[in-house]
Amino acid sequence: MSAMALEQTHVEWWRHAVIYQVYPRSFADADGDGVGDLAGITSRLPYLRDLGVDAVWISPFYRSPQKDHGYDVSDYCDIDPLFGTLEDADTLLATAHDLGIKVVVDLVPNHSSDQHAWFQEALAAGPGSPERARYLFRDGRGEDGAEPPNNWLSVFGGSAWDRVPDGQWYLHLFDSSQPDFDWRNPEVGDMFEEVLRFWLDRGVDGFRVDVAHGLFKEESLRDQVVPEGERQRGGADVNEQKSMVERTHRDEPMWDQPEVHEVYRRWHKVLEEYDGDRMTVAEAWTQTPESMARFVRDDEMSQSFNFTWLLASWSATAFADVITSTFEALQDVHADPTWVLSNHDVVRHVTRYGGGAQGLARARAATLTMLALPGSAYLYQGEELGLEQVDVPEDDRTDPTWLRTRDTDAPEIGRDGCRVPIPWSGSEPPYGFGPGTGQPWLPQPAGWGSLSVEAQEADPASTLAFYRRALAARRTLLGGPGTVEILGDHGLGEDVLALRRGDLTVLLNCGSSPVPLPEGEVVVASGELGAGDRELPGDTAVWLR
Ligand code: GLC
Repeated sequence: MSAMALEQTHVEWWRHAVIYQVYPRSFADADGDGVGDLAGITSRLPYLRDLGVDAVWISPFYRSPQKDHGYDVSDYCDIDPLFGTLEDADTLLATAHDLGIKVVVDLVPNHSSDQHAWFQEALAAGPGSPERARYLFRDGRGEDGAEPPNNWLSVFGGSAWDRVPDGQWYLHLFDSSQPDFDWRNPEVGDMFEEVLRFWLDRGVDGFRVDVAHGLFKEESLRDQVVPEGERQRGGADVNEQKSMVERTHRDEPMWDQPEVHEVYRRWHKVLEEYDGDRMTVAEAWTQTPESMARFVRDDEMSQSFNFTWLLASWSATAFADVITSTFEALQDVHADPTWVLSNHDVVRHVTRYGGGAQGLARARAATLTMLALPGSAYLYQGEELGLEQVDVPEDDRTDPTWLRTRDTDAPEIGRDGCRVPIPWSGSEPPYGFGPGTGQPWLPQPAGWGSLSVEAQEADPASTLAFYRRALAARRTLLGGPGTVEILGDHGLGEDVLALRRGDLTVLLNCGSSPVPLPEGEVVVASGELGAGDRELPGDTAVWLR
């Protein structure tokens, strides 16, 4: 590891923010129906202020049949009754802003719900109609068109095509209830500009853009070429993905087409018309860091999720490589990085790191290291409690990935396990998630009482107390842009990642043996230090000043 300096120069709020992801179904349930809601989120905003986050990103709350828990939108300009009303959204926005918290909402432009008025009109209008031209309807192949138009698979399993009664097929890269728009049709872009303005006018501070790399498909809709001996997959299963560097390049006529960037240039201009540094963050699963960087050119999106930190294996070299390659990819486009360890699509990082005491120690150490890096950090609800992935019983699983694959020879367990409602208080379900006494929409495990916010607030050694200390230290000491340097010759052995950020030295010990701590005041540590604070145990990180 050689020493290097990495420059960060700009100052909009989102360039160095801590952004906390709320999954509305599972955050807080004000009306007691077992599903979280907007009023629940509003009631817990003071908790998020005390935690020390700058912004919340809220997963979709729009009108939706909830086939993919809100990522199937039937009306982009209304709130699903399950979550509340537009008035509740206004209250949430106003309360957050009063508390100094920005609000980023989730925009789903790749597909709508099959219950969206446009898709219903398309079904009714029939082949060749302008209504069908808003989606990707095609005739099938083979005799009577009984075969799908191409070989593409859904990210959630099975074919990416479904047939409608008049014989045509429509494309859905996700569930069959999520038809893909045809972004080559200008009506689609115009509709989404209206949606952006609707939410910008209501005061949102930004958009997380779902499947940002998917909007355009290669125009021919040709077959995907699958090398012999490889299993065809519908998409990026985060939990199985190798780091981008290791990943073999696949033929992906459905992802990352160049035309998508025109859309983000248009959105950039729309956002520029508004005050207050409104932002966009792309969920873009691209094959290379360079391709990811193209989403964040000066006139496009503000940020792109950098999943490479999340995918890195537990080693000092792997983390150093991720830091270096991230900054290298971004420097040509003058963008700043983002860092993330968990979200609503991936196995919680305590569990990914092996679970139990070791998984938790590693999770805290990786988090503390990530929080020292220049750029924005994204946190996922419940990680501040050290929650693990839950093994949701088969009968309770709801994720379309599971529902579409459970009867096949390659069943996928799905993402329910990271979406279980979080424990706020008490010793039994619903652990203060809602006012009732019943289990919420996904059952919570027994024994979660000791992980509740209430329990952890009382314990200075808890994961919650650690997150609060770390976020407070970040705010005081690393409040803005900065540089990070990877220290090569630290003499502490190859298991230790050493960074310098401003006055701070950051050490992460990925090994199992303790190493001596250099001189300096301990600002915050991810776990207990050894030998009277003179040793850094394995699976532990520390900030020294
Ligand atoms: C994104 C979301 C995921 C959703 C999918 C389809 O990957 O993060 O939760 O299922 O898009 O909208």
